[in-house]
This record gives sequence, C-alpha cells and structure tokens, in this order.
Amino acid sequence: MPKRQFDRSAVDVGNIIAMEHVNVTVPDQALATFFYVSVLGFTRDPYMDWGSYNVWVNAGRQQFHLPTGKPQVLRGLIGVVVPDLHNLNRRLEQMRKRLSDTSFDFDIRKKFTNIICPWGNKIRAHGPRSFGEMQLGMPYIEFHVPEGAASGIGRFYERVMGCNTKLNKQKTACEVHVGLEQLIRFKESHRPPPDYDGHHIAIYVSKFSGPHQYLNERGLITEESDENQYRFQTIVDPSSGTPLFEIEHEVRSLHHPMYQRRLVNRNAEQTFFNYQRDRDAYMPADIGAAD
Ligand SMILES: [Fe+2]
Repeated sequence: MPKRQFDRSAVDVGNIIAMEHVNVTVPDQALATFFYVSVLGFTRDPYMDWGSYNVWVNAGRQQFHLPTGKPQVLRGLIGVVVPDLHNLNRRLEQMRKRLSDTSFDFDIRKKFTNIICPWGNKIRAHGPRSFGEMQLGMPYIEFHVPEGAASGIGRFYERVMGCNTKLNKQKTACEVHVGLEQLIRFKESHRPPPDYDGHHIAIYVSKFSGPHQYLNERGLITEESDENQYRFQTIVDPSSGTPLFEIEHEVRSLHHPMYQRRLVNRNAEQTFFNYQRDRDAYMPADIGAAD
C-alpha cells in the first residue's frame, strides 16, 4: 500500500495559544458601550466590571477591555468577524448621526467594512468564516511598524515567544500564528508610528517560563503581576537586542483562572420590534448549511 504523504508541520500550533483581549482606555463609558455593543453588536460581559469605571465587551471568545481614561489608539487595526456583515453595515448607517460629533466613520468595501471608533481606533469587520470557522470574534490584530522592523519582529516571536511565523517575500510584513485561528500581523509602514500610548493585548502561552527567562535576563519584564501573569512591552530583535516596537503584552499561563473562560454572547439581531422567542443568545450558524 503506498504511503500517504502529509505536511505534518501544516497543523503545528505555536506557543501563543490565544489572543484574548485588547485593552484601550476610553474617556466616556456610555459612548463606548453604545459603539461596541449597540453599533458593533457585541455583548457587555454580564459578570465582570459592572461599575462605571470599566466595561468588558465580549466578541466570541475574545474581548475589548475599555477602562476609563484618555483615549488610547492602537497603532494598526483590529480585525473582527461578525455573524452578519450586512446587518452590521445597516446599524452603522443607522447610528451615523448619533456619532457625528466624534471620530466615528466607516467605509463599506466588497468583502469587509472599515470602521473607526469614536476615538480613532481602526476596526475591520469581516463576515463569518472569513478566517477558518470563526463566525464571531477577533481573528487578528495588525500593527503598523517602522520600516525594516518586520524581519526582526518575526525572529522575536519565533525564537523568544516560540511561535510559528511567516514573513512575506518583500520582508515587509510578518504574521505570527496564534492558536488555531488567530494572527498577530506586523506590517511595515513608511509613516513612523505615533508615540506609544500604553494600550495592551493579552495572550495565553503554554510555555510560560521560557519567554520570561529571556525577557527577564534583558530587563524587559515590566510587571510581575502574579504567579500566572507577567507583562512586557518592548519587542527586540534577538539577533542584535535592538528594540523594534512597543506594545504591552499581558502574558498569561494556561493555569490562569480566566483561561478559556466562557464568554456570554448575545444575538445582535434581537430587537423589541422583531423579537424572536428563545433567540436571545448568539448561536453559530450550522456548518455547511445551505445559504
Ligand atoms: Fe488586560
């Protein structure tokens, strides 16, 4: 019997198992909730941070964390997948007037919609299954980095963080594979990035101590949060030690109590006027169902 051939490396999973949240401070909790929940259709976390200081917003298995503060703007864009892009586009049109005195804007393209939050964060919304089987969530974050940084950033995630990475032919963009269906992309831009304002991302890693040892030896750990979490901010080229880009990583072990926490997601199409009994919760559409 002929031997079957497979590329066994095609399904390898690297050390970053999940990218769970993006944290950007916002100056107005009510407006942030309106934008992320009413307009984008995501869900306020019903269990955590129910004061007036912070809101956690669930998008599938990922979250936006939005504490109160002066507006922070991620230096790139945040990719989201929504269950129905047409309905999102309709809500964006409907809500445009209410957000007219903010930075809010959007641009509907053929396969995705570019959205700017009231304070300037760029969000790109895609329809279901644009990235694997994901129907609701945050499949990628794209950072715009200085020219010449992409190769070294790739080396950092490969050698220090233990990830699988992919550099484009021109060596101007690097993709870091996260878990089964997420990416962190670093794309060189001829425009130098604005000053770093302190926003952060949270990741879960299976080998927790390896990156810590490397970063700690070089004085790059910025916070020893607790037994299951530390933070670092500077991405360096492991070949030279040169700093390449600043983005705070909240690094968590798989023993962190919030790992794979079940997040509540609602059906964004429910309204008072078209209410459907027992359809309050978000349910993924059947895989392979006829459109
Ligand atoms: Fe965080």
